[in-house]
Amino acid sequence: MKPPQKKFYIETYGCQMNFSDSEIVSSVLADQGFALSPNYQEADIIFVNTCSIRENAEQRIRNRLQQFRPLKKKKPGLILGVLGCMAERLKDKLFEEDSYVDLIVGPDAYRDLPRLLEEAGSGQKAINVILSADETYADINPVRAGDNQVTAFISIMRGCENHCAYCVVPATRGHERSRDPRTILAEVGKLFDEGYRDITLLGQNVNSYRWVENETITKFPELLEMVAGLSSDLRIRFATSHPKDLSDELLHIIAGYENICKSIHLPIQSGSSRMLKLMNRRYDREGYMSRIDAIRRILPGCTVTTDIISGFCSEKEEDHLETISLMKWAKFDYAFMFKYSERPGTPAAKRLADDVPEEIKSRRLDEIIRLQQKLSLKSNLADVGKIFSVLVEGKSKRSASEWMGRTSQNKVVVFQSESLRPGVYTDVRIISCTAATLRGEEVSSRP
Ligand code: 5AD
Ligand code: SF4
Repeated sequence: MKPPQKKFYIETYGCQMNFSDSEIVSSVLADQGFALSPNYQEADIIFVNTCSIRENAEQRIRNRLQQFRPLKKKKPGLILGVLGCMAERLKDKLFEEDSYVDLIVGPDAYRDLPRLLEEAGSGQKAINVILSADETYADINPVRAGDNQVTAFISIMRGCENHCAYCVVPATRGHERSRDPRTILAEVGKLFDEGYRDITLLGQNVNSYRWVENETITKFPELLEMVAGLSSDLRIRFATSHPKDLSDELLHIIAGYENICKSIHLPIQSGSSRMLKLMNRRYDREGYMSRIDAIRRILPGCTVTTDIISGFCSEKEEDHLETISLMKWAKFDYAFMFKYSERPGTPAAKRLADDVPEEIKSRRLDEIIRLQQKLSLKSNLADVGKIFSVLVEGKSKRSASEWMGRTSQNKVVVFQSESLRPGVYTDVRIISCTAATLRGEEVSSRP
């Protein structure tokens, strides 16, 4: 008789890239006969795919790992595995920190999971945190988990070469490498055939995507055009762009295709040139402003979202005020806002003092958040009365009688309709809004 199929459960923290990686892990294990379980109570293996970006992210995950302890006592043989960025950053120190952890696997070692699980299954601690120069998991067909069957994320490159002073990612995800464009096109085509209509191409810095084969070089603008050309019924997004290499050429390509979404995520981090230099961002305040000007010129109506860090090393009140004034000038539609958190081993941790007192970091962050709330509301109010083509994603979370979808500008719209299904486009007039959501009424629907 065949032994019963082993069940695994996977819980993911951090960025979209990590969620994408969890889908790769699911695929590697499904190929080896393991079954994905939607809940950890039934699982023989529990994975936590982790994030190291800020100290509080790690702390939350440490607490979560402790919650699995009673389960391990109840169920001898249960394997607890730590994947992702914390696994890579802490390596076998994690075994010392938490003796209940059986398995530690870094972001480039997921193909080795079946072997590592066997090792862990025989009672040994198992670890692989080797980073690779060329692993892109290009041939692996991710198992899309628990999604809406309309939106999907595809990783087109891995690692990062930017070395922003505050960031742990070059240490946890290694050198930058791009994935063969043919495998990207094949994956997008397959998703389209399955009914997906909104695809986000993911990379730490998509603008430096580069695939070289014989004499031909494929860069990001070409890749984007190839993907957009697959079907006009498919919406394409991408994240994240680094301001230093968001070219006019790319903006013109976005302008040329109706189905490349008019929404750009362009992290600024700070509005002060002095801070940007210390952060090793390789652009200054004026450079960033010129990119926003180019977006406004070439892509009118395009939304711009950003990331902001408050209280980076030596930040003075005047630096903070420059961030505030730049936010007002740029009128960001949305922002992810954080307090600086020193990460061991980063250039900033090695060279700069984390010297902004906690209460000042918090106060500045509060001011940034309060301003962004106003900017987001203004941005949404400006849409009231306009008609947008909305891609329907499903029923609204709050009310089963309402639908939710997204505009090309990446804004969520809630509205009522008699007959719809996920994956179709419909025109919606915006009638009201909050800072977070647009509310609309259906004007017509395309079949
Ligand atoms: N502290 C606070 N925020 C950080 N980010 C990256 N590293 C840190 C850190 N050490 C933020 C940046 C980045 C986003 C993904 O997380 O704003 O763009
Ligand atoms: Fe993603 Fe960065 Fe967190 Fe790693 S550390 S999971 S790359 S956000």
